[in-house]
Amino acid sequence: MQLNFEKMKKRVLVATGGGDCPGLNAVLRAFVKRAHQEREWEVLGSIQSFNGLMEEPTNIRVLDPKVVSGIHVRGGTIIGTTNKGGPFAWPVKKADGTWEAVDRSDEMIRKCQLLGIDAVVNIGGDGSQRISQKLFEKGLPVIGVPKTIDNDLAATDYTFGFQTAVQTATDALDKLVTTAESHNRILIMEVMGRDAGWIALSCAIAGGAEVCLIPEIPYSIDSIIRCMDDRFQRGKRFAVIVVSEGAKPLDGAVSGYAGTEVGYENFRLAGAAARLSSELKAAGIDLDIRETVLGHVQRGGSPVAYDRILASQFGVKAFEMVKNGEFGYMVAYRQPDIISVPLTEAVGHMKFVQNTDNLVQTARGINICMGDFFEV
Ligand code: F6P
Repeated sequence: MQLNFEKMKKRVLVATGGGDCPGLNAVLRAFVKRAHQEREWEVLGSIQSFNGLMEEPTNIRVLDPKVVSGIHVRGGTIIGTTNKGGPFAWPVKKADGTWEAVDRSDEMIRKCQLLGIDAVVNIGGDGSQRISQKLFEKGLPVIGVPKTIDNDLAATDYTFGFQTAVQTATDALDKLVTTAESHNRILIMEVMGRDAGWIALSCAIAGGAEVCLIPEIPYSIDSIIRCMDDRFQRGKRFAVIVVSEGAKPLDGAVSGYAGTEVGYENFRLAGAAARLSSELKAAGIDLDIRETVLGHVQRGGSPVAYDRILASQFGVKAFEMVKNGEFGYMVAYRQPDIISVPLTEAVGHMKFVQNTDNLVQTARGINICMGDFFEV
């Protein structure tokens, strides 16, 4: 787009970064609507995170109330996203065909100055907020908005997208229960949750799983077998197991492989359900076992009402912070308030499931086996 250099209004650039998540569009809509009330602000969206800003020609679009009208019910993000590269590690192909990561952050800041951008709002997870913090340290007026279906950021009680992912997983689990029962099978459902088991634990309780395995509690096959035996002795001939993609056995590591995509730094988690299935067979379970991997289904679709509301709260709060010049801060939810916290407090601080958490106590209280040694 061509930006008028003689700008009439203050400009705020918004970007969505990292893996997508239901509710991103609701944040954008709320932010734009609130900004528009002030009249003196113009909102721009950088396409595919900060890539749009860095590209030549620049790929950004004006976000006005007309553009964002009705998008709160839509999954994904109308301005796109990426979880590869970024201004500090921009992938560049060398003459020999290999790739290297180049720091283009100075260039990005210059570009913002050139375009007359007065504030930047970066909506994203932990990785994106690390970028926000580094840009802020270099002088860019940045505000962060947290996002992840995994709900594993310590700075905020909840992130939008999580409840939708739990609902999606629970709907799937409900379906797996009926087919498991018809066939006298064990059905294993693998859900997202790289480092934290919030999705698995929540949907296991909501859907009534027999076993729930999460990254925070390495599992013992013996414990699961004991739980199955107890169940079979009570006459039940089927079971459902929820396993986080990041779950691991007591003496093992997470299941997956190093990715080969350029600029993608995450270890690709894959195979937790398949491994568990093999382990159960090897331990002598004589029922048929099948695995379902939910994968990115959990990141898609229309956000549930809770996530639309939280996302709207985050969007409105983010604009208030822009208006008040609270740069270097991130929006957060601390029940019952929507607050701002320093980005330094937010990045790198994960919220893991603790054994003492009420959700774990609840799971144990309704006889969900968590796979650990201390199961009673
Ligand atoms: O961080 C959210 C998450 O959903 C993780 O649970 C998962 O491991 C990851 O994203 C997968 O991301 P992608 O396949 O898009 O790189």
